[in-house]
Amino acid sequence: MMGRGIVVVGSQFGDEGKGKIVDTLSDNADIVARYQGGGNAGHTIVANGKTFKLHLLPSGVVRGKRSLICAGVVVDPRILCAEIDELSALGIVVGPSVLGIDVRTHVIFPWHQALEAASGSGKKIGTTGKGIGPAYEDAAARTGLRFGELIDSQGLVARLREIAPSKQRLIQGVYASGVDDGGAPEMDVEKIISAYSPLGTLLAPFACDTSHEINSALRGGKRVLFEGAQGTFLDKEFGTYPFVTSSHPIAGGACTGAGVGPTAISEVHGVVKAYTTRVGAGPFPTELADGVGELITQKGREFGTTTGRRRRVGWLDACLLRRSCELNGFTCIHITKLDILGGIGKLKVATSYALPDGAVTDIAPADTELLEKAIPNYEELDGIPDFSGEEWRAAVDGGKGNGFNALPANALAYVRRIEGILGVPAASVSVGPGREEIIRAKD
Ligand code: IMP
Repeated sequence: MMGRGIVVVGSQFGDEGKGKIVDTLSDNADIVARYQGGGNAGHTIVANGKTFKLHLLPSGVVRGKRSLICAGVVVDPRILCAEIDELSALGIVVGPSVLGIDVRTHVIFPWHQALEAASGSGKKIGTTGKGIGPAYEDAAARTGLRFGELIDSQGLVARLREIAPSKQRLIQGVYASGVDDGGAPEMDVEKIISAYSPLGTLLAPFACDTSHEINSALRGGKRVLFEGAQGTFLDKEFGTYPFVTSSHPIAGGACTGAGVGPTAISEVHGVVKAYTTRVGAGPFPTELADGVGELITQKGREFGTTTGRRRRVGWLDACLLRRSCELNGFTCIHITKLDILGGIGKLKVATSYALPDGAVTDIAPADTELLEKAIPNYEELDGIPDFSGEEWRAAVDGGKGNGFNALPANALAYVRRIEGILGVPAASVSVGPGREEIIRAKD
């Protein structure tokens, strides 16, 4: 019997709460596979009173599930080793029986960060400064260094000595072009060798062929969760280009990133935050610059897990979500942070946009500039009560057996409206940060 492949995707601009949903779903999974992105991601999981902040490790590690970093990811071994150490300090051991890293995964080096800084993309796009874009550039240019080479200590030294001088010239050239006014950093190859060689030795036991492992597991009837990072509108092709990341968070990215065929995917779960947030520059039609925005920012603690930056916030945008449904083919959605909207008064959802030529559309336009100029038309919904944590937990208890009917009436109406607009059923609604604070459609 063929197993099940379940993809979990952020339906908006990232930070929808995917980590928590993957953590919950991973209870029934055999493998959790991260398929794209790198240390730019930030997944927060609250379990047993402890908060885990993950950047590179798949969320499955918190439950000790087999967790794979697939070929579509770009790995900074410094971030990875630090994260393994941090988890170990919290009592979670991430050994080779838990974690596997594909030998084809591209590795991030200090020159990737230096090139990102020099290019000015931090200022223009609001990139995270983790070297993600330049690492994917190297991968596409066929000049990158992969995990299999990082763990081959002798080969690594030779390759680094070969690559470093050309990277130094490149960095000097970019700095000389005046994009960044600081001086070009020195790429001391011996220092890089002495930092990366031991990391390669440390990480060598984790090396594997994750594509084959996943395909074999699926053939053996196992359940595999494919974990996306970032969100749909940060997709390199289909997001709000150029204000995007350099990989493919959309569901199709699971196939190319993890090395499975489309027939391996049985379900696609979209994670939908009950409002919208975005970190970094780019269009955001429903952005709120008023007191309501401030309230959501503070109550929702909308500050980045990776960079600590304040997230931009706005109303839920059904035009973006309709596009997201098309791009991902969601079979169900998980609505997160519904409790944050409690006590705000009337809630708004953008159901169409007015465009500069007078046209009205109900789906986000493909053209980024047009999206920038779109004026949302809102539908108003009744406010949700300002429940305390205890009251929401009572609703969660009531949900056991009653599903969403345990939600206060207006919260249920909000959920039903989202389902109605998208034509996709909600599988769960989150009303607090913890693993337990989730109401399932059916229990
Ligand atoms: P990069 O991925 O560092 O190249 O940044 C590209 C864009 O994606 C920037 O706007 C970042 O703020 C955004 N971004 C990258 N990772 C995340 C994430 O995990 N959540 C939200 N935004 C992200």
